[in-house]
Amino acid sequence: MALGIESTAHTFGVGIVNGRGEILANELESFKSRSGGMRPHELAEHHLNVASKVISRALTSSGLSLKDISLIGYSRGPGIGQALLIGAFISRTLSLELNRPLVGVNHPMAHVEIGRKVTGSRDPVVLYVSGGNTQVIIHNGRRYVVLGETLDIGLGNAQDKLGREIGLPFPAGPILDSMEGKWIELPYTVKGMDLSFSGLLTEALKKIKSGERVEDVVWSFMEVAFSMTIEVAERALALTGKEELLLVGGVAASPRLKEKASVMCEERGARLKVPPNDIVRDNGAMIAWTAILSYKVNGPDDIACSYMKPQWRIDEIPWPLLDV
Ligand code: ATP
Ligand code: FE2
Repeated sequence: MALGIESTAHTFGVGIVNGRGEILANELESFKSRSGGMRPHELAEHHLNVASKVISRALTSSGLSLKDISLIGYSRGPGIGQALLIGAFISRTLSLELNRPLVGVNHPMAHVEIGRKVTGSRDPVVLYVSGGNTQVIIHNGRRYVVLGETLDIGLGNAQDKLGREIGLPFPAGPILDSMEGKWIELPYTVKGMDLSFSGLLTEALKKIKSGERVEDVVWSFMEVAFSMTIEVAERALALTGKEELLLVGGVAASPRLKEKASVMCEERGARLKVPPNDIVRDNGAMIAWTAILSYKVNGPDDIACSYMKPQWRIDEIPWPLLDV
């Protein structure tokens, strides 16, 4: 029985998952702001303020008490240092206090592993689209490797920055996603398997300043950004011959992205797998489940070495392709 704590960015999440991967609780509180983005010290303060409430809620909804927990997992990186620190601090404390093993989890890997588990996808091409990350990932038999990724900002961050400039609250993604408009030409940048969103963002902002309708710019921005990511995912399917596409990360909640992915997969005869919205976004259950897998593969962490890894990449970690 693992309790997992997520705190890489906007969300403080606590999940409780058993050894069969059944999710017994998945509670969270997310930092939101009326204007502006995420200021690191505000995130840390938010996470500290909600931590004990979210842990209690998770225990209550699972019907368990802390002594029933046999493993503590936490998101070790990548992420925003101040936010990571809160999760690391609380999980170390729980581990020491309860005398239970501690396992630090790679956040992108947790998105992938919970996605595979929940959808039953064994060996997919993964399109991981979130605030900080945009990556196309496969397993090569020894580890997860990144076939293509953003060369600058993540798709979600590009959306949220555009939203901030037009006065929307954070996160802006869901609002932008539902806006309708007409097509305006914007730069489409795919470089081999890699992507770039900063030129698209700059040009979109320029178009708004020069008087184009906001709705048209936003609609076209989303059209270009989503088409770019689906193009790279399609190329990865063609290159590897894999038959499933798994969408994970907060942006995978977008109906428009899912529709594009579904059309592409249908044309190629590939299967599309998308977990529900509470699983694609940042959450604690993904950390708890991946902590269980990591414990099986590598055993517990040495608590003295359980420092955070704000730049940790999924492809640094030797990792078997586990059955789902
Ligand atoms: P990571 O550390 O993995 O990069 P993250 O901190 O960005 O994760 P997630 O919860 O995975 O967190 O993703 C959040 C992003 O998802 C935000 O940028 C938000 O705008 C975007 N998002 C959420 N819902 C939608 C939606 N319906 N359409 C488009 N974007 C969405
Ligand atoms: Fe995430």
